[in-house]
Amino acid sequence: MIEINEVTKTFPHKKKPITALNHVNLTVKEGQVVGLLGENGAGKTTLLRAIATMLTPTSGQILVGGHDTVRHARHVKQLIGVLFGGETGLYDRLTARENLTYFGTLYGLSKHETKVAIDELTTRFGMKDYLDRRVGNFSKGMRQKVAIARTLIHDPAIILLDEPTTGLDITSSNVFRELILQLKKQGKTLLFSSHIMEEVQALCDSVVMMHKGQVVYEGQLEVLYHHEDSEDLNYIFMSKLARGHSA
Ligand SMILES: Nc1ncnc2c1ncn2[C@@H]1O[C@H](COP(=O)(O)OP(=O)(O)OP(=O)(O)O)[C@@H](O)[C@H]1O
Ligand SMILES: [Mg+2]
Repeated sequence: MIEINEVTKTFPHKKKPITALNHVNLTVKEGQVVGLLGENGAGKTTLLRAIATMLTPTSGQILVGGHDTVRHARHVKQLIGVLFGGETGLYDRLTARENLTYFGTLYGLSKHETKVAIDELTTRFGMKDYLDRRVGNFSKGMRQKVAIARTLIHDPAIILLDEPTTGLDITSSNVFRELILQLKKQGKTLLFSSHIMEEVQALCDSVVMMHKGQVVYEGQLEVLYHHEDSEDLNYIFMSKLARGHSA
């Protein structure tokens, strides 16, 4: 479970600091697949980074599996797998296998456990043909698959993905969607940001809509559809934003 209590994050900026997160409260329950929606600059990446222990909130607290992201960052890191759009975190000079082995070791897996995990992920993502090639020469989709495999190498219970399908072709996006559904079946908790409404509609149980650093809506998709008398998430999203915080 992820519990976010009154989290504010400001970044220093000349005279007036930028408030990226403004008193955010949010709970993501175990086994839920949650889509994080919001315009550019709404605070999605900042929120994911804070949950991932990569940023310290200016005020408020985040608990992941009951552990404080600031005081028990090491514990939290073991529980989560993170992938931020654009940053694969892979070493270009290493092969895909070497990269995955490196991250497995980093998470404290034994040689055998790492090998088993790599075999499983390689099969799942169809990476066999290029497992022993250097990542530096990979196409974007190949890279993204290795990056997602890296995120999952230690079998985390909670997975945070920031715009995971941006830049992927249809085939790779479909592989990703299939993966989300598999992870959901395994009971994993997933929180991912996306600008692709169709993707969110197809994969998520619930959505969180952010606007200017605040959560303007949080709830199950089914409830939202019923309440708004529409199943057009794009339309609902725009009307929520127009109505602002009072919605
Ligand atoms: N390290 C930083 N220093 C200063 N300002 C930052 C920093 N990181 C984020 N911000 C600011 O915080 C706000 C929220 O940014 P964030 O990246 O979280 O938005 P986002 O919802 O992920 O947007 P996008 O959809 O474009 O990825 C923006 O105004 C951004 O400029
Ligand atoms: Mg972002």
